[in-house]
Amino acid sequence: MLTSVAMRYAGVCAASLMFVLSAMSPAGAAVAVPAPAGEIPTPYLPSTQLDVEELLRVAALGPQDVVVDLGSGDGRIVIAAAKYFGARGFGVDIDEKLVAHANDNARQAGVAGRVQFFHRDIFATDVREATVVTMYLLTPLVNRLRPKLLAELRPGTRIIAHDYGFDGWKPDRTVKIVKTFYLYVVPATVAGKWRLEASLADGDRGYDVDIKQQFQEITGGATVTGGYLPLFETRLNGERISFVIADKQTSYHYEGRVSGSLMEGTVKSGIGNAQTERRWRATRLLPGGEGN
Ligand SMILES: C[S@@+](CC[C@H](N)C(=O)[O-])C[C@H]1O[C@@H](n2cnc3c(N)ncnc32)[C@H](O)[C@@H]1O
Repeated sequence: MLTSVAMRYAGVCAASLMFVLSAMSPAGAAVAVPAPAGEIPTPYLPSTQLDVEELLRVAALGPQDVVVDLGSGDGRIVIAAAKYFGARGFGVDIDEKLVAHANDNARQAGVAGRVQFFHRDIFATDVREATVVTMYLLTPLVNRLRPKLLAELRPGTRIIAHDYGFDGWKPDRTVKIVKTFYLYVVPATVAGKWRLEASLADGDRGYDVDIKQQFQEITGGATVTGGYLPLFETRLNGERISFVIADKQTSYHYEGRVSGSLMEGTVKSGIGNAQTERRWRATRLLPGGEGN
């Protein structure tokens, strides 16, 4: 099943890609990646069956998903996504032989109608269609990819990085089962100034809310006459946002969705059978300086 290139590595029970790199000849014969000067190119090392299963489990894959494997090797991740979850997708690799082999494997697995592999550099690949991106690449390449992925992927897209995650972006989830799998959910951009209007049980309320954002981590607060109400329990998952504003001894639990320059949802206050639920909406007044 494996190409001669793959065979070279298939028997290597390496704990990590770095192990393989250090075990390679100084010339790095199997590496054919045009990388910036000084960057160690990512070689071919297939994920094991266990890795593929865990990676797709972390992705919480479904038949509606479009999976894109960046550096797809012999295609095993996208093929498994189609075969076992009914998803579709594609992979790209700079190794032409691996790409041909991956397309053969897709045909043999009976999923060639739903998956395809292209001989293409990751940086020349349009990933906008993806709902799930997988990658098993070395850290420098992963980090260089970050701006491209954040610019192209829609909020809510899951990125699963095998062993090498992004520097400076805290994963939404880390799963360690033999190898490490990092889940990143692409966050909506919410940094900036917003005007929030809510019809609360004790009357209508309007706040000027300032939000600062570091990927999915958000902080901020509402400026009110004579004071500042911080946002508590903030959470941003793709385009879903939640936070709590405590105002006049009542905590208001906001939940909603972000869509460009609009957020809207429901706000709950009170407890038990005294709980009320109302609507809120916020419009962006100014974009924030910092974001993703
Ligand atoms: C560690 S392998 C992972 C293969 C597969 N994703 C898997 O998990 O089994 C990394 C793959 O990325 C490919 N690759 C490295 N740099 C690339 C680039 N700039 N563009 C496209 N593919 C690249 C390599 O040829 C190699 O096949």
